[in-house]
Amino acid sequence: MQREALSILDQRTHATYEIPIHNGTIRAMDLRQIATGHDDFGLMTYDPAFMNTASCQSSITFIDGEKGILRYRGYPIEQLAEKCTFLEVAYLILFGELPTEPQLKDWVAEITHHTMLHETTKKFLEGFRYDAHPMGMLASTVAALSTVYPESRHVLDHNVRALQIKRLIGKMPTIAAYTYRHSLGYPYVYPNNDLSYTENFLNMLWKMVEPKYPANPFLARALDILFILHADHEQNCSANAMRAVGSSQADPFLSIAAACAALSGPLHGGANEEVLKMLDVIGSKDNVSAYVGKVKAGEFKLMGFGHRIYKNYDPRARIVKWAADKVFEVTGRNPKLDIALELERIALEDEYFIKRKLYPNVDFYSGIIYQAMGFKPEMFTVLFAIPRTVGWLAQWQEMLCDAEQKIARPRQVYTGPAARDVVLT
Ligand SMILES: CC(C)(COP(=O)(O)OP(=O)(O)OC[C@H]1O[C@@H](n2cnc3c(N)ncnc32)[C@H](O)[C@@H]1OP(=O)(O)O)[C@@H](O)C(=O)NCCC(=O)NCCS
Repeated sequence: MQREALSILDQRTHATYEIPIHNGTIRAMDLRQIATGHDDFGLMTYDPAFMNTASCQSSITFIDGEKGILRYRGYPIEQLAEKCTFLEVAYLILFGELPTEPQLKDWVAEITHHTMLHETTKKFLEGFRYDAHPMGMLASTVAALSTVYPESRHVLDHNVRALQIKRLIGKMPTIAAYTYRHSLGYPYVYPNNDLSYTENFLNMLWKMVEPKYPANPFLARALDILFILHADHEQNCSANAMRAVGSSQADPFLSIAAACAALSGPLHGGANEEVLKMLDVIGSKDNVSAYVGKVKAGEFKLMGFGHRIYKNYDPRARIVKWAADKVFEVTGRNPKLDIALELERIALEDEYFIKRKLYPNVDFYSGIIYQAMGFKPEMFTVLFAIPRTVGWLAQWQEMLCDAEQKIARPRQVYTGPAARDVVLT
């Protein structure tokens, strides 16, 4: 049988080493023994932006970027989007298996039980300026919940963790809806426990004076599908933030706030908002070609295009495109779609994008759907954060239960001045 090992010859010392290979990886700590002498710290790897470093072992999400495959716990994203509800998928991601009927009933009841916010948290939200960005409000409010639930800091206690997980999944839509109502100056709408997860969210967003707000079932289902697509995506920037902050045993509310902060950036979850701004700037189909020319000249990036892992079509983008057609049957077609389709057509035929394997990602079409549903672009990343909370929590729990994990603390290659004395002049 072929040996799973790497032979290394150190040209500095002529010493040889054999480094075991497991799952296509070597352990960075195995390189430490490669040293030039007793004073030498030993070899490290240098990998800015984690381009080729696995920071954990995980059994949650599988991505094959070359083939365009995404699976949660082994199930293809296409089947989950077609056959399951978001809360079923949340259960799967957190516990490893799809729930049985009684398990699902209990799970839905437990999440529903935790949708209310403490009245003081409502007051806290009122303190934001009328034009505060909803992502800033979301991150700050979820951090503030840490003060409402101080027991959440006992992160090594399984039962404490389980309770916070339910609280966070239950409360994120409520906070999200309140940030939206706040920006419009509308009164907050309390959760309605008779409704499904997404119907309740739509109710808290749009209900005005009518005694009962009937969410359109097609739009509620479309949002549910979008939530499924956004629920987890293995070690992305915000999941990595969640794991890094959580590794210090900070409580989950503060760790989720850190993950929200990471998500808000335009290179990550903030991209869907940027796509809409970009389509506004382009203005019409006729201007697409000139805009792509400027992207190729390096003036700016084509937002919603490219991905660190997917070097083939993002499988989520295909489902979002399908969902867009369903949503437009209810809302009418968003005229921005024509610009987006033309942009995709021109980019996919262009050598610049083909060579760099740049394809539309999940953010390219999701904003167009959200806008057609009535959301302002500032809310798009918040709509991403609600379902991604499930992935963050699953990654956090997996990290805390992994005996190999410790506080996350990368090394550096120091390039500053050598030791020198302070000489006062
Ligand atoms: C997602 C993203 C951050 C991944 O970045 P990355 O893996 O570090 O890839 P790189 O930035 O090294 O890109 C590789 C090449 O493609 C180019 N490129 C990447 N994304 C591009 C885009 N959206 N538009 C134009 N060019 C792009 C880079 O300029 C680089 O070109 P070069 O080799 O000539 O220097 C990047 O593609 C991006 O910024 N996309 C736009 C934002 C977005 O949609 N984010 C949502 C992700 S789900």
